[in-house]
Amino acid sequence: MSTTVKDKIVVITGAAAGIGQAAAVSFAQQGAKVVATDMNAEGLQETASIIAKEGGDILTVVHDVSQEDQWIEVFKQTEEKFGGVDVLVNNAGIYIISPVTEITLETWNKLMAINVTGVFLGAKHAIPYLEKRGGGSIINLSSIAALRGTAGHALYGASKGAVRTMTKDLAAECASRNIRVNSVHPSYVRTAMADYAEKTFGRSAEELGKANVPLGRMAEPADITNMVLFLAAEESSFLTGSEYIVDGGQTQITGV
Ligand SMILES: NC(=O)c1ccc[n+]([C@@H]2O[C@H](COP(=O)([O-])OP(=O)(O)OC[C@H]3O[C@@H](n4cnc5c(N)ncnc54)[C@H](O)[C@@H]3O)[C@@H](O)[C@H]2O)c1
Repeated sequence: MSTTVKDKIVVITGAAAGIGQAAAVSFAQQGAKVVATDMNAEGLQETASIIAKEGGDILTVVHDVSQEDQWIEVFKQTEEKFGGVDVLVNNAGIYIISPVTEITLETWNKLMAINVTGVFLGAKHAIPYLEKRGGGSIINLSSIAALRGTAGHALYGASKGAVRTMTKDLAAECASRNIRVNSVHPSYVRTAMADYAEKTFGRSAEELGKANVPLGRMAEPADITNMVLFLAAEESSFLTGSEYIVDGGQTQITGV
């Protein structure tokens, strides 16, 4: 099945690496106009050069998702360059595994500012632009950490749980304006975040995948971006307020 994201104007946060970079490249390959944002200017340049080499259309904006004034600037520049906004992918996030007794308030507030406040600010400032275009799609990267408890995940899990519920609240608020809002829930994906988990647990990605995932492997970025593209496309026009679990069966079936 091909998805129709051609000519859609798509803002993707955290697009300097990992899932966000893979999504930016996939959207561009399918003819979307991509606005790639991230705090990491060097990584953004890498994303831009991959897309430019393939003849894609891209704007990059250095952007910290926890800062409201920077969100205003992102959408202003997007409208100036491409004429509007059709899709927002709230992908930027950080991952911290720690026993709850060792989490400082500063660390808690920092992660929440990126993983939760960032999603709120993105939606808040995207919605008026989507409305002007007669509708659109917001896709929020949550995690399977929003669906069940895991030791060391009180902070990250709380943030992704907040994203899961906020997605449904936003979907309810925006449905009458044809703005769809959905969340995507990956298990471990082969990115820097999985490298961090490998180091923390002292087990390789392959071992973690084989031990925990019924399909026997860790996710690749493309497993997640396929879902993100679908949720951005016309083919998903009847989907809103839902959660899409991309985890090789890790949370939904048992291995026996
Ligand atoms: N990789 C996984 O195993 C996994 C699993 C479940 C969910 N997720 C979620 O998917 C999303 C992408 O994860 P990833 O694996 O690609 O991570 P990654 O670490 O590879 O990339 C994250 C990107 O976000 C950027 N970023 C961090 N803080 C930022 C900020 N304040 N403002 C703007 N950009 C910022 C980083 O610079 C980086 O480029 C995250 O929301 C993550 O929680 C990842």
